[in-house]
Amino acid sequence: MKNRSRAVLAAGAAAIALSLGAAKAAEEVTVLHWWTAGGEAAALNVLKENLGKEGVAWKDYPVAGGSGVQAMTTLRANVTAGNVPTAVQMLGYDITEWAQAGVVANVDDVAKAGKWGDVIPTALQNFGKYEDHWIAAPVNVHSTNWVWINKKALDDAGGKAPETWEELIALLDKMKENGITPIANGGEPWQDATLFEAVVLGIDKELYKKTLNEPFDDEALRSDQMKEAFARMEKLHEYIGDAAAAREWNLASADVIEGRAGLQFMGDWAKGEFLRANQKPGEDFVCIRFPGTEGSVTFNADQFVMFEVSGEEQKAAQKKMAAAVMDPSFQIAFNKVKGSVPARTDVEDTEFDDCGKKGMADLKEANSGGTLLGSMAHGYGGPPAVKAAVLEIVNQHFNGQISTDDAPAALADAIAAAK
Ligand code: GAL
Repeated sequence: MKNRSRAVLAAGAAAIALSLGAAKAAEEVTVLHWWTAGGEAAALNVLKENLGKEGVAWKDYPVAGGSGVQAMTTLRANVTAGNVPTAVQMLGYDITEWAQAGVVANVDDVAKAGKWGDVIPTALQNFGKYEDHWIAAPVNVHSTNWVWINKKALDDAGGKAPETWEELIALLDKMKENGITPIANGGEPWQDATLFEAVVLGIDKELYKKTLNEPFDDEALRSDQMKEAFARMEKLHEYIGDAAAAREWNLASADVIEGRAGLQFMGDWAKGEFLRANQKPGEDFVCIRFPGTEGSVTFNADQFVMFEVSGEEQKAAQKKMAAAVMDPSFQIAFNKVKGSVPARTDVEDTEFDDCGKKGMADLKEANSGGTLLGSMAHGYGGPPAVKAAVLEIVNQHFNGQISTDDAPAALADAIAAAK
């Protein structure tokens, strides 16, 4: 009898455990993102684990392809077919387009409780909110005008980080003489455009503001200054060696990490790869702003856009995710690994390495000085159609299909048709 009642009790406990398990599993988020490189996946894991501790299961929906071009195509197909993810990694103007489509959720209550309005930089709020309602939680602030240099290659070339265009060319020449490929290049259109925007910014930040942000000024797009930007791109092409065929950006980072190439022009997600390879800033690699752009920041912030989901558990899980993304200690833990800086203005820089500290200080300075500019290549410069036009023309020019003389007009025409 005693044994029997024990067995009944055990069965009952198992049933309760099962039903609790079921309740837990129902709180689940499906997250569509493009973080498939080592450093990116490691950073995302911090969020997965934090949510796991809160009983929210994570259904991963990775769509490989840097800068998210493929992810956005996959998202469109899914939403059309009625498969709506809980949250989607997204950039700038894409967020606004999805909000206009009327398929995103309202997380005002989470934002209000977390006082997001007080701590998220305005430049990010402009996209995280639509018609004054919160629809997205920003997870980071990246910026694109960085150069990642192999320290030994720099030392072998004299040790001085370049501050001007002329010094950059001198360094590249020296690296070539020393027998390594000066520039690690990926060759995908978005990667070429990432370099192009730094080149434009390096010539004149007013040129950047007029051409790669609204109003996409036609005269400035056709100017001699713009021709100079394309001439500089042509010059840089001389230093990319044979590995110009399209490949993922992180494979190009590996060339710098392993010393096959001297440097990479890339946003600060590249730092995530250096850290994953156990490299240290200042010892193994050096981070500098693209020569001539010190003081200005072309930013892109990854935001998790919340989509309209059905069912109480799904909605509850979504809200937990939104709150978890904005948690100050999560923002520190995540961004230390990712290479970006926190999307909150109230977080200390003490736990960040020197590149992270510089990133945070630069962001602050640019924000107050009017030099915080949206990255065109990464969704914050203009609507998706304009971005696509820029990517195409810049890539065609970089590959020699459009001459430097013809490129400014080609760019102006393509933007005019897209905007
Ligand atoms: C950017 C994104 C980064 C990183 C990078 C490479 O657009 O903001 O988080 O993922 O693309 O894929």
